[in-house]
Amino acid sequence: MKQAHWNVKGPNFIALHELFDQVDEAVEGYVDQIAERIVQLGGIAEGTVRVAAARSQLDEYPLTIAEGVAHIDAVTGALSTFGQEARLTIDEVNALDDADTADLFTEVSRGLDKWLWFVEAHAQATK
Ligand SMILES: [Fe+2]
Repeated sequence: MKQAHWNVKGPNFIALHELFDQVDEAVEGYVDQIAERIVQLGGIAEGTVRVAAARSQLDEYPLTIAEGVAHIDAVTGALSTFGQEARLTIDEVNALDDADTADLFTEVSRGLDKWLWFVEAHAQATK
């Protein structure tokens, strides 16, 4: 999200610059809640950049794009992947009868859907 926040250019610059930063703040909140849940359940929150990069399910973010539409596409892809993983996790923890973790990931999934709506609306027709 910061990659998009920093590098977006074009006529919708300020709207997208600010929106991508809002998405970043929200996603950091989801990450914090997920990491703390892992530790509450006795696990280790492996929070280094190297571990995150090695385990990431996200497509590689394009480094040379600038136009708003290109960043909207890239951000939409990343949020969609995160949302898909969150929904898979809901199914996995439901199978383990862990309603609290399912609730956490339901909140994350619902939040990601909202941010997808905000981001995608910038690329939709104004008819
Ligand atoms: Fe900033």
